[in-house]
Amino acid sequence: MRLFSLLSLATAVALSPVVASAQTSAPFEAISPEAQVAKMGAGINVIGGYDAWWDGGETKFSLSDFDKIRAAGFSTVRIPLFTFKHLDKDGHLDADYFKRIDQVVDAALANGLTVILDEHDFETCAKDADACATSLSNVWYELSAHFKAAPNSVIFELLNEPNGQVDDKIWNSWLVDLLAIVRETNPERNVIIGPTHWNSRNDLPLLQLPENDRHIIVTFHYYDPFHFTHQGASWADPETQKLSGIRWQGKPEEVAAINADFDKVAEWSKASNRPIFLGEFGAYDKFGKLEDRALWTRTVSESAHKHGFATAYWYWDGGFGVYDAEKKVWVRPILDALIPK
Ligand code: BGC
Repeated sequence: MRLFSLLSLATAVALSPVVASAQTSAPFEAISPEAQVAKMGAGINVIGGYDAWWDGGETKFSLSDFDKIRAAGFSTVRIPLFTFKHLDKDGHLDADYFKRIDQVVDAALANGLTVILDEHDFETCAKDADACATSLSNVWYELSAHFKAAPNSVIFELLNEPNGQVDDKIWNSWLVDLLAIVRETNPERNVIIGPTHWNSRNDLPLLQLPENDRHIIVTFHYYDPFHFTHQGASWADPETQKLSGIRWQGKPEEVAAINADFDKVAEWSKASNRPIFLGEFGAYDKFGKLEDRALWTRTVSESAHKHGFATAYWYWDGGFGVYDAEKKVWVRPILDALIPK
């Protein structure tokens, strides 16, 4: 299936009134993806679509948390958006939702943070690629038009972790068409795109990016060894769900495995001439010991930065959290692992 066939539909429905863009005060200036990755440095994922904040519900998040994130030493935030449920029947994102996105983007930019708008409806897409194609094209018409005047520190990520029905054949075709949508209004904004199988580094060789588009940053996610980072996680495969007591103690072979994985990513990056953003990595706290999680986090973060990748830790609060939003304190061992003193 080609998303292309849906473009005329998307064009027809997406002639929304362009709401005043966030942060138009600083004009857009093109920046190379390499320079952008260098500037992004260490980041975190925050205020995900899962959060009640997006629907005006009760939440532990407040916009002033961006001050704390910056003060702690992070320079980038990745915002996982569930946009599909905010599309009306004509393919427009509702005004209330745009208002909330603007508040988030403005607060992040006011703190000098790079802000990534990450489309995170990957589970819906995995199950129904046809429906996803229409929604995704409408969403990118809307977001691109809305943010066309935003400074270059606003970056678009087309789709988190394509998987299931969104295989490499479909994804390679969609990404060309989605980029075409974005480029109509944002010819030089950097766009983040990752490979299939949940942004697996193993699928990097399958990714086919348009050669003439030089404003692309490539992303991958890293949760290896998965039986350590996801032990006891209810959303993992049945075997991993049942695991507990798995340790990660930084043995030479454990560290070497991470370095070897990142060496391969860096080789691909060099050969393909595309800089890298490690957009998610983290270890879940249900059965993972804090000292092991902190050591793994430090090892992954250090190795990623040594390899020249920008990073974003998964996640701000909750089970992977670098922040305890209940007590309003940082989880020191994880923060120190991410932002070494
Ligand atoms: C998913 C989260 C999950 C995390 C780690 C993310 O991409 O959206 O639900 O907790 O990966 O598994």
